[in-house]
Amino acid sequence: MTPYLHPPIVHFTIALVAASVLFDLLGVLLGKDSLHAAAWWNLLAGTIAVILTVATGLLAERAAEHDEAAHGVLEVHKAIGLTALAMTLALFTWRAFAKGRLPRRLRALYLLVSVLTMGTVLAGGYFGGELVFGHGVGVRAVQGLSPQHLGQDHKH
Ligand code: HEM
Repeated sequence: MTPYLHPPIVHFTIALVAASVLFDLLGVLLGKDSLHAAAWWNLLAGTIAVILTVATGLLAERAAEHDEAAHGVLEVHKAIGLTALAMTLALFTWRAFAKGRLPRRLRALYLLVSVLTMGTVLAGGYFGGELVFGHGVGVRAVQGLSPQHLGQDHKH
């Protein structure tokens, strides 16, 4: 399977999990059940996305060449990604037991866990960006650029 599947999928995880949590918080603020329904569907899709994200990430890890410095960041990124997977699965299970509604019992704890889950997913995204844009993991260096392509013949 191609190792290029991780980048197009990660953004679904980040957006869907974050949207789910933000819809719930807005729902509590505005007292609208429709926002909690939106949060549930986003969480359902986000859970599928995080499973695919971690699976493709593990495949990308095997294919991506990297140096010692990038290795440390990759280990952190992986640990955060696996934690995000566990937290999202836990949140999804909790919510499924409440039939997709915002749980009545331990509501504040549920919201706290959901905010922490969002933070973990976002942190995973941050370190993923650090891997690619900070350490060039998965990036092939451009060879033999002409002065024209290096931008030496034009002004900004
Ligand atoms: C919630 C889980 C995860 C999220 C949100 C996530 C997010 C990201 C992001 C945003 C990037 C930068 C790519 C881009 O900007 O297009 C990236 C790259 C990368 N991630 Fe993840 N990631 C997750 C889990 C994992 C796991 C578990 C691994 C396994 C080691 C992994 C391995 C990689 C690798 C090797 C790259 C470098 C680019 C590539 O080869 O595709 N990721 N990740």
